[in-house]
Amino acid sequence: MTAQIINGTLLSQQIRADVTRRAGALTAQGKQPGLAVILVGDSQASQVYVRNKVKACEDCGFYSVLEKYDGDLTEAALLARIDALNRDAKIHGILVQLPLPAHIDANKVIEAIAAEKDVDGFHISNAGLLMTGQPLFRPCTPYGVMKMLESINYPVRGANAVVVGASNIVGKPQAMLLLQAGATVTICNSKTRDLGYHTRNADILVVATGKRNIVTADMVKPGAVVIDVGMNRDDEGKLCGDVDFANAKEVAGYITPVPGGVGPMTITMLLVNTIEAAERN
Ligand code: GUN
Repeated sequence: MTAQIINGTLLSQQIRADVTRRAGALTAQGKQPGLAVILVGDSQASQVYVRNKVKACEDCGFYSVLEKYDGDLTEAALLARIDALNRDAKIHGILVQLPLPAHIDANKVIEAIAAEKDVDGFHISNAGLLMTGQPLFRPCTPYGVMKMLESINYPVRGANAVVVGASNIVGKPQAMLLLQAGATVTICNSKTRDLGYHTRNADILVVATGKRNIVTADMVKPGAVVIDVGMNRDDEGKLCGDVDFANAKEVAGYITPVPGGVGPMTITMLLVNTIEAAERN
């Protein structure tokens, strides 16, 4: 059996069309949605990510600002900028691209963002709201994964879901969203002894480790939904995920490609969070 591909680009287009319509309605009332994106340092990967985020905002009719700072920006200067954006009525969402340089305390920066503008959903109060089942903003990548499951009408309730990776950005919030949807959730991490033992039991397998080919075809339950959050380069420099896609797709029931899977959905859900922030305002 060859798996059905879940096309994140196509699903994104559908969701973004709705976001564009809602942005138009707000703009007509003089309340154009606005997102500020802050990048500190010159990481090539981060530059590409933030450029794509700002371009997506513009395509949907948002007001957007990209603030780029040198890697030696002080923590105090960054906190002052966030304070100004918190009070800027044109800005409904603030995103500080991670990782930050080592001399800046990322937790302190995230906590400085007003919770109602924290469109990443990383603020401790938003993490707490998610944990207690009353989310304000769902972190973009896990939220996109849930939308992908919804797009194939997958019965998450009662399913065995395995999340490989336990980051604050993806793994932990992903587990919370799946749990809330009624799945039985296992979170694996870099110390997990026998990863395959867990993954072979997964009806839904979400892989977010940043390690190429960490999941091979023999680790996939026949018919499972395999969601690949990884973004790596292969030996030829081509983008690839964490899953051995070519072989796993012969075992899985559904699978997401890289590129064209979770990546576009992450940006799309940032747009959704920003429009929701603007509508609430
Ligand atoms: N770095 C990697 N993913 C993300 C994300 O979703 N948001 C932010 N702010 N930084 C990231």
